[in-house]
Amino acid sequence: MPFALPPPAPRAVTRRALLAAAVALPALASGRGPVRLRFSHVVAPDTPKGRMALHFQALVHERAGDRLRVEVHPDSQLWGDDDEIEALRLGAVEMLAPSLSKFGMAGVPEFEVFDLPYLFSEAAQVRRVTEGPVGQALLRRLERQQMLGLGFLDNGLKHMSAQRPLRRVADFAGLRVRVQASRVIEAQWRALGAQPVVLPFAETRRALASGVVNATENPLSNFLTQGLASVQPQLTLTGHGYLGYAVVTNPRFWASLPMADQRLLTDALRAALAQGNRWAAELDRDALLALQRQTGVAVHQPSEAERDGLRRALRGVSQMVERGPQGQWLKDVRAALLAK
Ligand code: SIN
Repeated sequence: MPFALPPPAPRAVTRRALLAAAVALPALASGRGPVRLRFSHVVAPDTPKGRMALHFQALVHERAGDRLRVEVHPDSQLWGDDDEIEALRLGAVEMLAPSLSKFGMAGVPEFEVFDLPYLFSEAAQVRRVTEGPVGQALLRRLERQQMLGLGFLDNGLKHMSAQRPLRRVADFAGLRVRVQASRVIEAQWRALGAQPVVLPFAETRRALASGVVNATENPLSNFLTQGLASVQPQLTLTGHGYLGYAVVTNPRFWASLPMADQRLLTDALRAALAQGNRWAAELDRDALLALQRQTGVAVHQPSEAERDGLRRALRGVSQMVERGPQGQWLKDVRAALLAK
């Protein structure tokens, strides 16, 4: 089946973000008093991103005392998916770690290659891309959209959940699936005969509980900490895609910091991201055990043949990206994966 990517939708500037930006402008480091760095994210504290942000906060405090104050705002309490990138550009928050999937619609479509199904078979493979020249080039692309990319973080492989096991292509027919705003992810679900519905992460559980949508995908730590087991009784370990993050800051805020503080923050973040990647692997294993022991969710492991069936059905999505404007990026990512 042929697929074509629609152009990225222009993002509206919300009134909330404009108002907040107006009061936030003094957040630029003025050389007087402590510098406040608000780090907003949409997931729970006990996830790879949540733990990494708190570790970064602790490291900065240890090294700079009260001079550089990192405030961590989890669970979409400060900004959610709909407005966090816009808030960063406007100066209403200083640091975010959106999932890589969310940069495509924010004007950096190169990041959509990370959403391709079955491109990565384990999170550790992604590091070959993110820690090499391709990863650095991708971070530089963010500058065109008023974001300064500071590094990458894993969550893990995504799995699919619904009211029924999802082993064969026919199982997906007619599902209404909550997805992140990514054209590649939308194409993936359409290829399986399901209807993607873009919703902010914070609304996922409620939308599943009320029946607005009846399926979703996420790594295990997000599935566990969002309490999705109580509304999605069947979890199929498809491992069909990767979910990771890029940490970004506002370039004007960054430029207002003395070089020594930029170095301190960069070093602290590098250490926090390395630790965050170790936690990601650990939390992925722990979440599976917790789901099996503490919730009533039924966990299904598709057979190789079933996995191949899904892979075949999704081949068109990769072909769509190969032939589209991001085709060269996909080639570069594949080359990085093969490099010794
Ligand atoms: C996240 O892990 O930051 C959210 C992922 C999602 O929106 O599904």
